[in-house]
Amino acid sequence: MKSILIIDDDPLIRKTLSTHFSKDGFEVFMAENGREGLEKYEENFPDMVILDIRLPDIDGLESLKRIKAKNRKALVIIITAYDDMKTTVEAIKSGAFEYLVKPLDFVEMDMAIEKAFQVSKLEEKLSYMVEEKQKEYTIDNIIGRSPAMRDVFKLIGSVVNNRANILIQGDSGTGKELCAKAIHYNSPWWDEPFIVINCSAISDTLLESELFGHVKGAFTDAICETKGKFEIAGNGTLFLDEIGDVSTNLQSKMLRVIESRDFMKVGGEKVLKTEARIIAATNQNLKKRIEDGLFREDLYWRLKVVEVKLPPLRERKEDIPALIVYLLEKINRELRKNVRKVPAHVLKKLVSFSWKGNVRELENALTHAVILAKGDIVQEENLPLDAGEKSPFPQKLVPLKEVEKNYIHHVLHSTKGSKTQASQILGISRPTLDKKIRDYTLDK
Ligand SMILES: Nc1ncnc2c1ncn2[C@@H]1O[C@H](COP(=O)(O)OP(=O)(O)OP(=O)(O)O)[C@@H](O)[C@H]1O
Ligand SMILES: [Mg+2]
Repeated sequence: MKSILIIDDDPLIRKTLSTHFSKDGFEVFMAENGREGLEKYEENFPDMVILDIRLPDIDGLESLKRIKAKNRKALVIIITAYDDMKTTVEAIKSGAFEYLVKPLDFVEMDMAIEKAFQVSKLEEKLSYMVEEKQKEYTIDNIIGRSPAMRDVFKLIGSVVNNRANILIQGDSGTGKELCAKAIHYNSPWWDEPFIVINCSAISDTLLESELFGHVKGAFTDAICETKGKFEIAGNGTLFLDEIGDVSTNLQSKMLRVIESRDFMKVGGEKVLKTEARIIAATNQNLKKRIEDGLFREDLYWRLKVVEVKLPPLRERKEDIPALIVYLLEKINRELRKNVRKVPAHVLKKLVSFSWKGNVRELENALTHAVILAKGDIVQEENLPLDAGEKSPFPQKLVPLKEVEKNYIHHVLHSTKGSKTQASQILGISRPTLDKKIRDYTLDK
């Protein structure tokens, strides 16, 4: 049963509301002034408060502030005798969910209450999700005891409590995004947004509008105004992935924002501010790109206030056994499997293998082995290790479709025809796989 507290000095209103809410199945508490209202709030912690803005002792606004000080998430709907915009704006600013003007319209009030409950449920779910993320990205979940990784941990520790710009460099799959998230979710701003933008995946113009937003009509497809990532990130973190691929034109614009902290939407005239912490990442050698005239040196220095260098897996082989244990745990959890045993000869092979795709490649190989495992053992024949040693491409250059057809055939062969396993390995849905099998006549 949900409970509601009505704080109003008018006995008639208290009575009418109380009858209305009791009929709706609420447990109702009532108070005739601010002091009594606060007492009843503390005693009962009701799910909802209906608060008159004009009260004889502590006025409604002050009561609202005190309720919010006790419980930041308290749901309060203000009722006011006249349409006083100033007080209303003040009340909304102080955290009231909604305001209703007397004489009260019950339909309107019921709708406001329902909406308040829905929004609060959604907020709870969101904050739960953020907390889950925080757990997922604790420093403990970055595996590595090698000296190189210890240096990384030291650096992470030294940056979590400040907002310095960070540049993370490392080969593909070494954990750049993982580190960026660990920094964000361990910082005091962990419940602010973590926004990722992959700078290499989209065209220059699109990237510009993604970063800064655009106003309506800024270009042909700009049918409505949008916010850019610099704005959406708020007080959180903006993760600029693959920064090395940004054009020099856009680099200049980024430099300006990072230096001045202000920017304008594409086609806009209003100056906006950004407070976001910037973490940039690249797998390219930025020094070389600077020499080649492809990367602005001033931007490089601005980004790399702190520099984190992630070592490739081949330089920290001692971390591989612990990584295997950790990754198997993660994969089994995701796939609801129980493949945890690694025979000594398989472990030796995994440690000595040259992981060009680093931790990501190791994770993929283990996922492959877990999906295909018969019992609880990681079997050598289920590890796709040979592919990495020699070129996976045919010597003769052929159209993409042919490669796709042959590869799907190869995967289906490895899974002994299991389409469920094959679609998991290929990372496509079962219907998509079925369609491809039909299109390439692989069922024949
Ligand atoms: N030290 C580590 N401990 C545990 N897991 C790791 C570690 N490093 C990387 N991983 C895992 O490996 C995968 C790849 O990591 P991530 O996406 O952070 O790499 P990346 O450097 O951003 O790669 P890319 O350059 O390809 O984008 C992720 O699933 C990540 O969780
Ligand atoms: Mg990445």
